[in-house]
This record gives sequence, C-alpha cells and structure tokens, in this order.
Amino acid sequence: MAANSMIELSDQELVELSRFVEEKYGIVLIKKKMLIQGRLSHMLRERGITSFRDYMNILYKDTTNTEITSFLNKITTNHSYFMRESEHFDFLTKQVLPYLEANRPSKVLRIWSAGCSAGQEAYTVAMAIDEYFGTRKAGWDTSILATDISMNELSRAKAAVYPAADIKDISPQWRSKYFVQKGADQFQVCDKIRKEVIFRPFNLMDPIPFKNPFDLILCRNVMIYFDMETKEKLVERFYNHTVSGGYLFIGHSEGINRSATRFQYIKPAIYRK
Ligand SMILES: C[S@@+](CC[C@H](N)C(=O)[O-])C[C@H]1O[C@@H](n2cnc3c(N)ncnc32)[C@H](O)[C@@H]1O
Repeated sequence: MAANSMIELSDQELVELSRFVEEKYGIVLIKKKMLIQGRLSHMLRERGITSFRDYMNILYKDTTNTEITSFLNKITTNHSYFMRESEHFDFLTKQVLPYLEANRPSKVLRIWSAGCSAGQEAYTVAMAIDEYFGTRKAGWDTSILATDISMNELSRAKAAVYPAADIKDISPQWRSKYFVQKGADQFQVCDKIRKEVIFRPFNLMDPIPFKNPFDLILCRNVMIYFDMETKEKLVERFYNHTVSGGYLFIGHSEGINRSATRFQYIKPAIYRK
C-alpha cells in the first residue's frame, strides 16, 4: 500500500458506521464516504490499523467515548469565533436582556450554549451581559452553561486562549476590556468573564439532565449535522427546558420547520417560547 493512499471504506461499512454514529450522536454520515476516507486514512495508517473494519471494532469497544469523539472531531467542524452571527448578540442586548431585566424579579438568569465548541459563543454572551448590566450586574445571578461532546474543545474552552483570527469581530474596546494578550497572536479571555461560564461534556442526543429551565438557549451551527427528525426532537426537548418567554437562537443557515415546533418564530434564527 502506498504511504499516502486511501484506506477503502466499503459501502456496507459506511452504512454500519453511519447507523452507529447517528444512533449515538444524531450526526448523519451516509453521504460522507470520501470525507471519512480522506480524513481518517492517514491516522489509521499511523496507528497501524489497516482496515476500517478494524477501526470500527475499536470504536464499538471504546466505553470512554474518547475514540468516537476524536473520530467526530475529524469529520465535523468545531470552527467558531467570537461575535459569530453578530445579529444574535445585537438582539440579546436590545431585546432579550431588557425583557429579562424587567421580568425576572428573582434576578436569576440561566443561559445555555449547547454545542459550544471552544467556548467563543458562551464567552461572547458573558461579555454582552457584562456590558449590558454594567454596575447593576452585582445584583444578578447569571449562569452560563456551555456544553459539547468534544473533550478536546472543552479543554480549549477552559484555557480560553485564542488566535487573533477568532477575535477579529471584537471591537477594540472589548478587546482591551475583556482580553489579555498572551503573545503576538494569542489572546486570553480575562478572569472576570471566564468565571461566568461553566463548561460540561454533554451529548445532545441524551435526555437533558439540567434541572432548572433556561431563559436563553443557543444551539447554533450544531444541528446542521442532524437529520430533520433528530433536529425536531431536540428542539422539542429545548422547548421543555425553556422558561416561558425565553428564547432559542439557532444558526442562520439551519432552519427549523415552524409547523413542527411549539416555539414561536420571531425573526431569522430566533425563536421564543
Ligand atoms: C461548528 S461548532 C459550533 C460552535 C458554536 N455554537 C458556533 O456557532 O460557533 C459545532 C459543535 O457541535 C458539537 N456537536 C456536534 N454534535 C453534537 C452532539 N450530538 N452533542 C453535543 N455537541 C455536539 C461539535 O463537537 C462542535 O463543537
């Protein structure tokens, strides 16, 4: 076998692998044969694994989920950046936070970044909240939960160090207020904002274990991998874990079928209970 030739994934193996991943993670792989071969062959060869059959057996036996998440890391994208789809943060500051401030006498806010990648989305929310409340923030108990299946992304999120490209859409004011420069191309989120976010591993296909409902759930650019049925079921579970009057933000490129959800459509990528 030539050193850089692709290891063949048969159609039958593809069907089997796709079924396994879809049942466990909701991610549909059936049209991704070339991508899987292309992105996995090198790693398999390096590890001395000569066929996808052998690799799949390793995946099936892994009870720690580390093999499967590193596989998913290779075929899905964890790409994210601060202030991505900035319309959401504009809406958060102009509509959501003023509404919540006026309607939460308990002064408790719960936000969930579901599929948070390396934390850029959750930290942007924390910055928007800090900016919005200013000195009034002291009276509020705001918690931001951020979850992902990728342990790798979660450890990057906790370290909170990012290349300059990830903060290109952050204003110079926010850059100096919320980041500490760590090197020519490295910026770390300041301690005050880091303390606002709790990172946890969570597979969105599992029953939602979080007791308290959320005022805002962001699940952006995650459901692109799921089929319609999986997506609709997940949105329904989000609905059941949203406070009445609370919001759901999804990615601008991923629609949800409005007739299949109890969320009310507000504007592109924004829904409300
Ligand atoms: C493209 S990133 C989106 C990050 C961020 N929400 C944004 O919009 O920039 C997609 C993330 O979803 C995560 N993901 C995919 N399937 C998941 C699942 N079943 N449960 C939890 N996270 C999942 C991936 O690990 C990845 O980090």
